[in-house]
Amino acid sequence: NRVGVIGVPFEKGQKKYGVSIAPAAVRAAGLIDELKEIDGLDVKDFGDIETSSCENNVNVNNMNHLPLVSACNKNLSERVSHVLKDGRIAVTVGGDHSMGVGTVDGHYNVNEDMILIGVDAHADINTNKTSESGSVHGMPVALLVRELSDYWPYLPTMDWQVPRFSIKNLGYIGLRSVDKYERLAIEKYNVPTFTMEDVDLHGVEKSITHLLKVLDPENRKPIHVSLDIDSLDAWEAPSTGTPVRGGLTLREAIKLMEIIHATGRLRAIDLVEINPAIGNENDRKRTIEAGLCVLKAALGFSRKGSPPKGITDL
Ligand code: ARG
Ligand code: MN
Ligand code: MN
Repeated sequence: NRVGVIGVPFEKGQKKYGVSIAPAAVRAAGLIDELKEIDGLDVKDFGDIETSSCENNVNVNNMNHLPLVSACNKNLSERVSHVLKDGRIAVTVGGDHSMGVGTVDGHYNVNEDMILIGVDAHADINTNKTSESGSVHGMPVALLVRELSDYWPYLPTMDWQVPRFSIKNLGYIGLRSVDKYERLAIEKYNVPTFTMEDVDLHGVEKSITHLLKVLDPENRKPIHVSLDIDSLDAWEAPSTGTPVRGGLTLREAIKLMEIIHATGRLRAIDLVEINPAIGNENDRKRTIEAGLCVLKAALGFSRKGSPPKGITDL
């Protein structure tokens, strides 16, 4: 297996300082070396995306910093496509969740049959009309999905992004903070959704297995996981901008990712919304460690351990 790591030091999709320093913090915590320790994994670091800071005066109602979000995502989309064409799983470390636009766009441009699994406390499927925050990190899914394109006004600077991904290829797991119009969208399009209520009823293994079966009954489609660290319980991952109690335990999240890894079809994974500037040293460390554990599980780290390279007998 080959992976390519991309950092996205971007935080203008939400209002708090700190998400932009997560790629550096996660790298400093050993990201690349820990991935290299995974059995048979070839890791290449593609560095960080350029994020422009020159704010132009384009203004869209209730959509903060759209031109900056757009510029960052355009670069990101190209980088993700590049990594995938290099035959690698695209591992993107954010950054706030507005970057889901770039990662999914870049993936879709290479694999039109991809499915998207949002692992998140939130649905992130607001438009600028339904959002109560005006923050684009709550809108990436609505921007990506072609079925919702008529609900948007013309978005200056976003011409590069054509919403072609179908909502029929989307599923969620971990939800527990869904806004009113988000709920309507999920129901209208029958998006397969395992909220925490469902995870509590059925367990994480049945939930993800069922979700994969609904989205891809023939087990052949490339998988994109967009993993918001706030899918984990706020106790497991306190350093994030919109924490919600009652989420996945670390062990549930690891199990979830092990099952996804076992499909052999994971092609892209985003790890977003870690905010090292929130909480104390202990919070920060716990959150980053949790993110690394979950990411490693998705990429084949085995809790059984792995034998030394090329040696099979003691
Ligand atoms: N639903 C809220 C909003 O639209 C919160 C979104 C949180 N998103 C996230 N990626 N953490 O503003
Ligand atoms: Mn979230
Ligand atoms: Mn999110």
